[in-house]
Amino acid sequence: MPPATIEMPGVTLIEDAPLAARNTLRVQARCAWLAELGDAATLPRVLALPALRKLPLLVLGSGSNVLFTADWPGLIVQLRNGGIEHMGETGEHVLLRVGAGKPWDELVRWSLAQGLVGLENLILIPGTVGAAPIQNIGAYGVEVARSIECVEAWDRELERHVELPAADCAFGYRDSCFKRAPERWIITAVRFRLARNGALHMDYAGIREELASLRIDQPRAVHVAEAVQRLRTRKLPDPALIGNAGSFFKNPQVDAVCATALRTQEPDLPQWPQADGGSKLSAAWMIEAVGCKGLRAGDAGISEHHALVLVNHGTASGAQLWALAERVREAVHMRFAVLLEAEPRVLPQPTPIPAQHWTRHE
Ligand code: EPU
Repeated sequence: MPPATIEMPGVTLIEDAPLAARNTLRVQARCAWLAELGDAATLPRVLALPALRKLPLLVLGSGSNVLFTADWPGLIVQLRNGGIEHMGETGEHVLLRVGAGKPWDELVRWSLAQGLVGLENLILIPGTVGAAPIQNIGAYGVEVARSIECVEAWDRELERHVELPAADCAFGYRDSCFKRAPERWIITAVRFRLARNGALHMDYAGIREELASLRIDQPRAVHVAEAVQRLRTRKLPDPALIGNAGSFFKNPQVDAVCATALRTQEPDLPQWPQADGGSKLSAAWMIEAVGCKGLRAGDAGISEHHALVLVNHGTASGAQLWALAERVREAVHMRFAVLLEAEPRVLPQPTPIPAQHWTRHE
């Protein structure tokens, strides 16, 4: 029987849907059901459908932060609501409500065209507005959390729409309550607080140099965005040209004892001291140091331009990509005794390999 396609007002439901065009690593996986929703208000009705309500659920933005190592046996929901509403002004600030389905980079460019300040360092990040709070997207010295007023979501535990003020979202480095409990909330909209004349963040390495080379001495938000765009396009592969999910590994955080030991053993390893006395370490530097930058196994590879980026050169399967990522983690652990964590969601969740398994080979 050919796969079913059911049309409901504002909803498209597809059985046995292909996912290759719905994940930026371009993995050829499928899902049992896919639901595309033009309006978040239809969510409760779709989730309650008898054919769907017992299935495992995954919410996908534009698939730029996920690695499918197998087919998804359940329902995938994609929200396509992308409206921007002006909610009011408080002195210097403008309040906006943006639908979860809006492509992130479109919002950044729209805000720049309005002369608003706050999102300029986050230009060119793939993904949707609804995905942005989940891993608290960040780049060039700025995290999205600082511009978020509140997150609107469907709470599957309480079975109602909720509004979570930013202070209740437990935002951290590539982290939030939504990332920790992916089953609980489906983000439907995000409210942002952007400034008309806010301070610009230009201290991240390379921004001021880029502005100088553009001969800009009185930068505005658009200029910072232009500088960031140039830095990003030089280093990070474009998912439209080569399958990737941005940084595949997080920069690991270690405690003060470990940071001090590494400072002696590996004096060139970049460290960013943290408030608790520990340090965040450059995962890219460690991956390059163990010779994995540019590594390739079939079509699975590590970018030759940026060591944090796992790339699909053609038809690598999710399992092949994950096997390569595991090789990288093992090599880094052998030399630095530091375990790298994947930044995207790896689905189904892999069984962690105990670190002892690796150290036995030393
Ligand atoms: N480095 C290397 N080899 C490389 C790349 C970088 O040794 O191949 C070292 C260099 O010493 C460099 C340092 O790493 O100075 C930092 O590099 P970069 O500025 O590229 O930042 P990152 O820590 O590697 C993070 C984010 C990126 C974000 C950049 C810029 C994470 C996991 N990644 O990378 O985010 O664009 O900072 O702010 O925090 C993403 O999340 O998908 C992403 C691309």
